[in-house]
Amino acid sequence: MKKQKEISPKIVIIGSGNVGTQLSKRLHARGLDVVQVFSRKAEKAKHLAKAIDSKWTNSLAKVVPTADLYILAVHDDWIGNVAGHLAKAIEKDSLVVHTSGSTPSTVIAPHFERYGVFYPLQTFNIKKKPQWSKIPICLYTSRDSDLTFVKKIAKRISQKVFELNDEQRATAHVTAVMVNNFTNYLFASANDILEKENLPFELLRPLILETAQKVQNASPKDMQTGPAARGDEATIERHLQFLEKYPDLKPVYELLTKRILNERRKK
Ligand SMILES: NC(=O)c1ccc[n+]([C@@H]2O[C@H](COP(=O)([O-])OP(=O)(O)OC[C@H]3O[C@@H](n4cnc5c(N)ncnc54)[C@H](OP(=O)(O)O)[C@@H]3O)[C@@H](O)[C@H]2O)c1
Repeated sequence: MKKQKEISPKIVIIGSGNVGTQLSKRLHARGLDVVQVFSRKAEKAKHLAKAIDSKWTNSLAKVVPTADLYILAVHDDWIGNVAGHLAKAIEKDSLVVHTSGSTPSTVIAPHFERYGVFYPLQTFNIKKKPQWSKIPICLYTSRDSDLTFVKKIAKRISQKVFELNDEQRATAHVTAVMVNNFTNYLFASANDILEKENLPFELLRPLILETAQKVQNASPKDMQTGPAARGDEATIERHLQFLEKYPDLKPVYELLTKRILNERRKK
């Protein structure tokens, strides 16, 4: 018997920023039907639409009403507001999800009964193509019956798909901020010091890579090294004297050193 061709779900992406752009491109590249993209700026929407062969709009009132899934990739603070505007243009029983790690799915609930989250746990930049197949996609839907559908789409773009409720996703987001934003802040702080001392950041790049690679196959606690992990008080003292010149960073060094020393004492 001839196999029936599966009809591709129609997806609308609201937001043409870092996530909206990269997600639209990935969905399109994996053969999914992104029928329309939205940005408040016509040029931005047009540019993305051209890249993925879709329609575009810069008016929420003109969003196509017949899609199977609407993905809101807009600033966290605007998700509820955008959902409210969208509710005037599309059916009340449309499925609407957002892409935020920290925003509860329920911000969409006043406007749509079928709502949820499609949160890709990675850092995105509009200019850098992400390695989608390895990105954890954290899913939630208000109705169980929608989860299978959203999961199917997520599995087309990544091998790592997780079901997380709002509370679990918020926890994951806090830890994501710690390992990504905080470590990057430390990279930037280290760079500032090196620049002021006329040394290149290049000195640290292999170390940064090694640190991140080590925890891919081991527990971070087991991989802790450095003066605090060794209980090397003399080195810590020398570092603190050096950091007198950098009074903003000294308390950061002190706090983290104290935490690592405490962990050492527990062993
Ligand atoms: N960036 C990341 O690394 C990352 C990772 C995972 C999840 N997320 C989540 O993904 C979502 C989007 O983040 P992003 O980094 O893609 O942000 P972004 O690059 O700043 O893009 C945000 C988009 O929101 C639109 N927008 C802002 N205010 C709006 C409003 N009042 N009405 C309609 N549209 C509005 C912008 O529209 P215009 O095009 O009209 O300016 C832009 O397209 C957020 O919920 C964020 O938490 C981000």
